[in-house]
Amino acid sequence: MSVPPEIGPNYRKGGILLVGRDPGSREVQLGRPFVGPAGQFLDECLLAAGIRRENVAITNVVSEQPPGNVFARHHPEAVERGRRDLASLVDRLQPNLIVALGNESSWTLVGEGIWPSTGRGVYGATGILERRGYFWRGSGDVGGAKVLTTLHPSYLARMGEGGITGSLNAIKGSALGAAAAVAGFLGPGGVIVTGLA
Ligand code: URA
Repeated sequence: MSVPPEIGPNYRKGGILLVGRDPGSREVQLGRPFVGPAGQFLDECLLAAGIRRENVAITNVVSEQPPGNVFARHHPEAVERGRRDLASLVDRLQPNLIVALGNESSWTLVGEGIWPSTGRGVYGATGILERRGYFWRGSGDVGGAKVLTTLHPSYLARMGEGGITGSLNAIKGSALGAAAAVAGFLGPGGVIVTGLA
């Protein structure tokens, strides 16, 4: 079952598009992205960052659940479909900022041509822990789009209090707060370093 993007009723051209990995069981059941445990944490993060869910658009790099819930087991056609759908969504929504949540999303949106051309996860490639909190120009089909790479809400939820930044509230607010702050203010070209997230 394919889970379509959620375009917030108040989303306007030039807004923020959040991109996750693929739907879980709850998302497939309800036909909406990020409505399970990761979604609840994402909602908290959005709230902490002062971003209203109804103002943003949310989707995944692959819209189907992978066999055994393992991203690397996606059928190549599902990955390819996801790539095309994401490109046409970006074209339609014209977001000012795309927030890539986690590794798979960041490889898809700003990968160095590594993912998904190999057809499987590239766990040796630059990981999200090094990439988080940076702004990039999108690559491939989303070339030119502004992308902020940050951690996946599932990862953040697992880290909890005392996590990598030492404070759950800091984790919640930082990357998405940066997204809210910079949407519309990024200049052309290059990578912009924030030190946040
Ligand atoms: N994780 C994701 O990456 N996307 C969802 O929609 C749900 C969980």
